[in-house]
Amino acid sequence: MQIIKPNVTDSTNNYLKQLLMDTALEDFCVVVTNQQTKGKGQMGTEWVSEKGKNLTISILKKQPSIILSRQFILSILVSLSIVKTLEGYNVPKLAIKWPNDILSDHHKISGILIENLIKSNKIDFSVIGIGLNVNQELFEGLSKVSSLKSILGMHVDRDQLLYKLLENLQMYFKLYATKGEEILNTEYESYLFRKDKPSTFELPNSTLFTGIIRGVSETGKLRIQMEHETKEFDLKELKLLY
Ligand code: BTN
Repeated sequence: MQIIKPNVTDSTNNYLKQLLMDTALEDFCVVVTNQQTKGKGQMGTEWVSEKGKNLTISILKKQPSIILSRQFILSILVSLSIVKTLEGYNVPKLAIKWPNDILSDHHKISGILIENLIKSNKIDFSVIGIGLNVNQELFEGLSKVSSLKSILGMHVDRDQLLYKLLENLQMYFKLYATKGEEILNTEYESYLFRKDKPSTFELPNSTLFTGIIRGVSETGKLRIQMEHETKEFDLKELKLLY
């Protein structure tokens, strides 16, 4: 497996995308760094990670044969690979907060940023960025964030963790190729944070409403049962308060 290890970079996603333009890369090529100077999070946020303590990686998946409208399956595959890996470390109370935050007992320990390059309505290359808090213990100003070391009370070897994660990711891509989407959707929903529980959501105009998460649509929207109807929401359209 091709593993590229720049000691510092702005963002492993950017690094991998740039490399892709200049070089022929293998499928599942991985970029892993000790330090990101401008790590990117979902919706234009910044992903801050202490130098040398965590996993900040990007993985290239070439021609995943996924049509654009079904791109959410990638979030499902990656989320499940992380959860499966963390189960191997006995991380307690794992859940996936839609669309793809990995929580342990309500605390975020991992985030995913997938950037797709599209050709003829299909994903040509997918750059799968994963941030996983491993040995960092202080998260200034962030109360709902944690790490494996804080949760498990022990130092975790980042290389071993990376190999296990890559194994699981390849396993889930194979499962998808052989068994299709449905089995993965079901497994994803079994980990979905606050599924079937009344929850409070906030709309972009600050209005609050109560609803019950029932699942995720084929296009990756969150299905919420409200008083009179079930509606589907995009990530930009609401925030789950917890
Ligand atoms: C989020 O939860 O907001 C997504 C965070 C994704 C962070 C990872 S770290 C490695 C890769 N490179 C980036 O710049 N971002 C992703």
